[in-house]
Amino acid sequence: MMPSLVPSSTVEAAVRFRRATRRFRPDPIQDGILERALELANWAPSGWNLQPTHFVVVRSPEQKRRLRAAVLGQKQVEEAPATVVFLGDLEAVRTHFEEVLRMDREAGANSADYEALLRKLVPLTFAAGPLGLGGLAKHLGVAAYGLFRPAPALSCLPAARRLWTARQVMLSAMTFMLAAASFGLDTGPMEGFDARRVREVVSAPRRMLPVVIVAVGTRAAEPKLTKTRLPLERKLHREQFTP
Ligand SMILES: Cc1cc2nc3c(=O)[nH]c(=O)nc-3n(C[C@H](O)[C@H](O)[C@H](O)COP(=O)(O)O)c2cc1C
Repeated sequence: MMPSLVPSSTVEAAVRFRRATRRFRPDPIQDGILERALELANWAPSGWNLQPTHFVVVRSPEQKRRLRAAVLGQKQVEEAPATVVFLGDLEAVRTHFEEVLRMDREAGANSADYEALLRKLVPLTFAAGPLGLGGLAKHLGVAAYGLFRPAPALSCLPAARRLWTARQVMLSAMTFMLAAASFGLDTGPMEGFDARRVREVVSAPRRMLPVVIVAVGTRAAEPKLTKTRLPLERKLHREQFTP
């Protein structure tokens, strides 16, 4: 191995410590640690700083039992002392945009010019209009424009909105898993679930998209927690994609 020029950091240690954990010990999580990991996850970046991620922490035996059924019986949900359901608000523009603009303005994070630009671009990107027709028209318009000039991806059609939302939520979930690892906690992410039933279990409205569910606690001695990765060289491309 090449000698490292940069001292290894907490981030590197957390990345190496984290393994998808499927068997947990019943030990409780030390007070305050889960909240610290969630506080760090809340600092994950999001497009336009719209912050669509919501976190539902499930700890009670009754809720764990119901959630386990919705995650297709995966037992880590009942074994782990806590499980976090990561939801994405599909209407984050409506629910957060003005408030985030105000907070960023008061904090001096955005110049007046940048705020004016956001006020133009964010509705243009997301607004779908009555029955989604405005969104469809915009989508077609941008597709036509894109034949001649570089055009942005819009998030005004339902599938594109879900993709946009899932992207943001995954950044929060990954930040959470690394934060938890840095505190010595294990996590197990799950995408194998019935989204409608998950929403019902946590009483979330329809606009909340369940994106990923993460069990948290201390790993039990599993038969094998080591994992492999394809060599980086197979996936690393320099300047151009090389097949
Ligand atoms: C988005 C996502 C969804 C996953 N869903 C499940 C799941 O439903 N059940 C499960 O047992 N593992 C799940 N995993 C764990 C992966 O199988 C695991 O991360 C992968 O095998 C790599 O192992 P490692 O995380 O230990 O490096 C999921 C991982 C990710 C990132």
